[in-house]
Amino acid sequence: MRPIDVSTRVWTRLLDLRTEGGSEGAPEWTEAEKAAFDLYAPLASRNGGYVTVAQIGQSLDGRIATVTGDARDVSGPDGLAHLHRMRALVDAVVIGVRTALHDLPRMTVRLCEGPNPARVVIDPKGRLPDDAPLLQSQEVRRIVVQAVDRPRPNGVEVIRLPDQNGALCARAILAALHDANLQTIMVEGGGITIANFLDAGLLERLHVAIAPLLIGGGPQSLTLPNPVRRLSDAMRPDAQIYGLGSDIVFDCDLRA
Ligand SMILES: NC(=O)c1ccc[n+]([C@@H]2O[C@H](COP(=O)([O-])OP(=O)(O)OC[C@H]3O[C@@H](n4cnc5c(N)ncnc54)[C@H](OP(=O)(O)O)[C@@H]3O)[C@@H](O)[C@H]2O)c1
Repeated sequence: MRPIDVSTRVWTRLLDLRTEGGSEGAPEWTEAEKAAFDLYAPLASRNGGYVTVAQIGQSLDGRIATVTGDARDVSGPDGLAHLHRMRALVDAVVIGVRTALHDLPRMTVRLCEGPNPARVVIDPKGRLPDDAPLLQSQEVRRIVVQAVDRPRPNGVEVIRLPDQNGALCARAILAALHDANLQTIMVEGGGITIANFLDAGLLERLHVAIAPLLIGGGPQSLTLPNPVRRLSDAMRPDAQIYGLGSDIVFDCDLRA
């Protein structure tokens, strides 16, 4: 496991990567600073084309919330800082409507320096109310992906896609976001939404952040629509393990 140190000089370099390009750290950095750069550079760089990454914060027993849906502090403080760093580096953050309705997330960057990403909610049936907090800010792009004719508040962009037996095609969602000029995208949850992108083979990376707590019940981290029957058929991505402090993260490379 590689412990990370997101020092000011590393974070500045990562934010610069978004605009200036390049892919190198600096030789004088410590091993922990180099590890931090390796963890975040694939999200920050705009050199390699489109990148779609998912991040899920889970307990030791693989839960992402309690039985009542309380998910606020599944991740420890360093796991939360990790999530905010990812938000600051990508162009857009995508969530499913169940997370939008339950958590009322702000989807802003508060635990590090950096810009707020565009916010995308997948809401096929048009369930998200107009006064949802994440639709309010005029300073960032707000996008709803839906299958129904439903007007949204002024300034909120709508991507209308066909309903295919109750589902929206994840590939079509991603293509529409690319057409909307969003190159690097983080799918932030919940489990259903991430699983849709994972099952369609659309994720380049998956960050599984694990916090040392046991919840005992509640929604599972990831459940695929077509799970394998034999372990020999399981996905076994190349994974680097990073020590965030309070939490650890498995950075899985799914490109193969
Ligand atoms: N620990 C974490 O990292 C984390 C992160 C986020 C959320 N959470 C927790 O996770 C729970 C919610 O997650 P969840 O998995 O139940 O739901 P979710 O992924 O937030 O939302 C799923 C819903 O989004 C819509 N949706 C997403 N992708 C779609 C697609 N390709 N086609 C059609 N519809 C699509 C559907 O809406 P309809 O139902 O309207 O059809 C679907 O039921 C909450 O308890 C939340 O607190 C935890």
